Amino acid sequence: MLKNEANPNISKTTRLPRKRFYRARAHSNPLSDSHFPVPISPSHVDYSLCYPQLFPPSKQVGNSKKIQFADIGCGFGGLLISLSTLFPETLMIGMELRDKVTEYVKERILALRVANPGQYNNVSVVRTNSMKYIPNYFEKGQLSKMFFLFPDPHFKEKNHRRRVISPHLLDEYAYALGVGGIMYTITDVEELGEWMKACLEGHPMFEALTDEELEADLVVKLLSTATEEGQKVARNGGQTFRAVYRRIVPTI
Ligand SMILES: C[S@@+](CC[C@H](N)C(=O)[O-])C[C@H]1O[C@@H](n2cnc3c(N)ncnc32)[C@H](O)[C@@H]1O
Repeated sequence: MLKNEANPNISKTTRLPRKRFYRARAHSNPLSDSHFPVPISPSHVDYSLCYPQLFPPSKQVGNSKKIQFADIGCGFGGLLISLSTLFPETLMIGMELRDKVTEYVKERILALRVANPGQYNNVSVVRTNSMKYIPNYFEKGQLSKMFFLFPDPHFKEKNHRRRVISPHLLDEYAYALGVGGIMYTITDVEELGEWMKACLEGHPMFEALTDEELEADLVVKLLSTATEEGQKVARNGGQTFRAVYRRIVPTI
């Protein structure tokens, strides 16, 4: 492996990977088959690979910590990087379909770990298709936060089945989230914002946070400010549409 100084993908001044070397197609089709390893169950997720400082291979037994936050379609990883220091005791993971983008996030995390010893050990990223493999990664009720930030809009009606929020996929997210866990969604596409809200509103296992709860939740502010897409929207003076819901036990 090349040293940072010799690796042209890494900036000499910031020591962070440079995005222009990780260019990827704007979109991947989540319904087409991709080829990457998938754990056969949550107990097969290799925590020593994701969090090597916290799960050294020799000491796997004894650390029963599990991933609690999942950023679905994490893109370039801005939210995770902010959450990592805000919740240093929480394990979190980004799930990203595009391979170059996943590589970028991996390099970004590695560089931050080197530059800040003892930090960023709780954050990781995997290349995967979240529409297919959420149950392979998380046990029932394992997660306390899930993020769906600026997801691809898939405007055409025939492509709505590619959207990461749908009534059917909400069943999976409700399974992975513990009772009281929070789903955060945000978009700059009004029609998609209405779609995500309607799906959540119509699902018996989710209820909207109140305005007071949204105001008190530190993470809500990060949805726009810490994500690369949110920053782009802010630069262009665009509007955003948010839906934040709690996993509840349905009333019969
Ligand atoms: C518009 S970007 C938003 C990135 C990031 N959340 C942000 O706000 O900056 C949407 C991301 O979701 C990823 N994505 C789309 N479908 C996915 C899927 N089924 N599984 C995992 N990632 C997916 C895309 O590759 C893309 O990087």
